[in-house]
Amino acid sequence: MLKVDHASVFFAARDGRTVHALDRVSFDIPDEGFVVALGASGCGKSTLLNAIAGFLPLSEGSITLNGRPVTGPGADRGVVFQKDALLPWKSVADNVALGLKFAGVGRRERQERVEDLLQLVGLADFGKAAPYELSGGMRQRVGIARALATDPAILLMDEPFGALDSLTREHMQELLISVWSRTAKKVFFITHSIEEALLLGTQVLVMSPRPGRVVRRFDVDFVRRFVEGGDARPIKTSPEFAELREEIRAILHEGENLRSAA
Ligand SMILES: Nc1ncnc2c1ncn2[C@@H]1O[C@H](COP(=O)(O)OP(=O)(O)OP(=O)(O)O)[C@@H](O)[C@H]1O
Ligand SMILES: [Mg+2]
Repeated sequence: MLKVDHASVFFAARDGRTVHALDRVSFDIPDEGFVVALGASGCGKSTLLNAIAGFLPLSEGSITLNGRPVTGPGADRGVVFQKDALLPWKSVADNVALGLKFAGVGRRERQERVEDLLQLVGLADFGKAAPYELSGGMRQRVGIARALATDPAILLMDEPFGALDSLTREHMQELLISVWSRTAKKVFFITHSIEEALLLGTQVLVMSPRPGRVVRRFDVDFVRRFVEGGDARPIKTSPEFAELREEIRAILHEGENLRSAA
């Protein structure tokens, strides 16, 4: 289980002010849980993800993964960035193998593992390709394969599909959900899209603008239907889905109004 307990982050901005980015955020991600953070730009979502990844320290509070405190980056957390962060001079296979190489995994085993991972994300024929030969969606799939390479306990995904066209985005959502249901990993996923949050998450955290707080959490199970049925359209057009979508939209608008009134 991942446990985030009263996590706060203050940044010292360059003009001397203090930015209160995250305010006492608490939540758990159980095994096989898929938690989505949703909120306006600047509300602290990436800050939260970066703290879980171990890229930045909390000012207050704690984060533990399977009982161990998070004090820095580690192979037990796989990160997928908003912009693919592939090394342009390395092949697709070598990009996926990067974490395995750092972990000291031998060449033969690396090769086998990379082949399995490329198969899993539908890129079996592209191991030798260079990143620039791939489309945006394919590059994000390489990013997912790379994040899975060290068999991490949790995947951390910062708006991974934000830059994709809507059709590719739908394919990527299906792919992610099939990977999630097959590998049974925990996922922490950030998005601006209410629909994406509701479709993918087992829990949706709605965050308020600065300082970032979790204002509401919703336990949802549309993703179970997605896993079983495979077709997102009937789920998205169902009355329960529409009702929750409007409820969350109202909460986000209220937050925006409070901010502009302040
Ligand atoms: N290194 C930093 N130094 C100072 N302030 C920072 C730093 N990183 C983030 N901030 C501030 O913290 C707040 C939260 O930023 P964060 O990147 O977490 O937002 P976000 O919710 O991910 O936004 P977006 O949806 O646009 O990606 C912002 O006000 C931002 O300016
Ligand atoms: Mg962000």
